[in-house]
Amino acid sequence: MSSPNTSTAMKFTQYAGVAGLIVGSAVAKEIPQDLERSRTLFASGVRHEQIMSKKHSTWDQKRAAGVFTAEYPELGFAPCKDGVVTAIEGDKMNTFKCSNIDLYHFLAHTKLGSKTGEGSSSWGWVAPSGREFVAVAQADGAAFVEITKEGKMVYLGRLPQHHEASPTIWRELRVYKNYLLVGSEAMYHYIQVFDLRKLEDIDPKNPVTFDTKKDITSLFRDLPVGRTHNVVIDEANQYAVSVGAAPRSDKCKAGLIFIDLTDIENPKSPGCASQDGYVHDAQCLTYKGPDTRYQDHTICYGYNEDTLTIYDVSDRSNATIISRTSYEGASYTHQGWVLDRNWQDYLIMDDEYDEYNGAGPAKSGHPITYIWDIKDLKNPKQTGYFRSPHFGIDHNQYIHDGHVYQSNYGTGFHVLDITSIPSDPTGAGVHEVAFIDIYPEDDDKPEGGSLDFVGSWSSYAMLPSGFILINTIERGAFIVKMQKQSIRARGSRLGW
Ligand SMILES: *[C@@H]1O[C@H](CO)[C@@H](O)[C@H](O)[C@H]1NC(C)=O
Repeated sequence: MSSPNTSTAMKFTQYAGVAGLIVGSAVAKEIPQDLERSRTLFASGVRHEQIMSKKHSTWDQKRAAGVFTAEYPELGFAPCKDGVVTAIEGDKMNTFKCSNIDLYHFLAHTKLGSKTGEGSSSWGWVAPSGREFVAVAQADGAAFVEITKEGKMVYLGRLPQHHEASPTIWRELRVYKNYLLVGSEAMYHYIQVFDLRKLEDIDPKNPVTFDTKKDITSLFRDLPVGRTHNVVIDEANQYAVSVGAAPRSDKCKAGLIFIDLTDIENPKSPGCASQDGYVHDAQCLTYKGPDTRYQDHTICYGYNEDTLTIYDVSDRSNATIISRTSYEGASYTHQGWVLDRNWQDYLIMDDEYDEYNGAGPAKSGHPITYIWDIKDLKNPKQTGYFRSPHFGIDHNQYIHDGHVYQSNYGTGFHVLDITSIPSDPTGAGVHEVAFIDIYPEDDDKPEGGSLDFVGSWSSYAMLPSGFILINTIERGAFIVKMQKQSIRARGSRLGW
């Protein structure tokens, strides 16, 4: 094992002390699921509610203080120089720590058509003409933005939250072909399907607020109370998956609810996978890789609170579990991505509560990116991890061109080069190649950050131009670009 695995031994920090904490040896190691702990802490929803209530308390305070609707000035181009992007000279709140990332543009949520502020998910779409668009999730809808050749955002309008629902910060959106799918944790929201080609005709002088009845392609209603935590897309196999659709007592147990998209105007569910209960997030794709038993099967990698759970979903009306594996420090298994969709030998994932919980390798409060060897889908092995030098909680990530792009709340947006993993799965060769800390509000804290649900929720870095959208909870949307790509990662086949 490499050095990151041995450096923090058994130190008990101020962040530990939550009941049920595993005091492990802080090496990356898969372990069988602890069935009793799983039942009482995870399947019961207790841990999920702890996290939701912590988030609510942070965000309720911010809402009361007017943080989400405050006036944040528009910011133009500012290079990363001597470790900082100085967007406004002498203004600490508009000076961002950075490495290898320049700022191109910033617009507040309120300038992107939102009345509530409160940003969450984001995704991108390239029109057949090559124009680049992004969707920016806000509590009261999805804002549509074109990114110009100069890296400027042009606001085009929005799809408000479904009219039977109320605003909520949890809005997750993904792109399927030329369509945007939007799910939400709001009751009676369901999943909106919107044809993005409508954006191509908009005159930006007259942004369009689309009608949630007349302007959508379809609404997928077959969710127990209309809530879904996330929407996962498997475009090649023409379906989507609702994950974390409350309540857990429903027949699908908030597991994987499949949505057939072959007739996009009429999305239908062929079935669900309830066997491992609540699924927080997942990646679903055709299996290509070393495990010959599953060649060309459809596989979902589920991030299921205390386990990595791998499903065979080739038959969406009869999905089965291949394996379910926990690991030292498991506190809230959150989300992950396979390194190479064409040769699925490794995946990376994060745990959203291990830093806060002071558990396992995250006991020092630095985000941990866990590495799994999945060459045997029945017996995944945790082989190592990358410990971020920054202090805070990790959140959403995906891999593209050998880079992993991470939105890690108050620490901001980070890019890691993960091309070393197949040759060194301990993670010792993983390194950060770029970052921008878009949340300077917590930089003066003793650890240089905070274990709180603030800052960046998501990003989208897969546009051909190299412009990257960062969506933030409090302020709005940033457009940034890496100054130079990591030479090893450039042209890598790894990722999306
Ligand atoms: C469901 O899948 C299992 C495992 O592959 C198989 O044994 C069973 O016959 C299937 N059931 C149906 C109804 O297709």
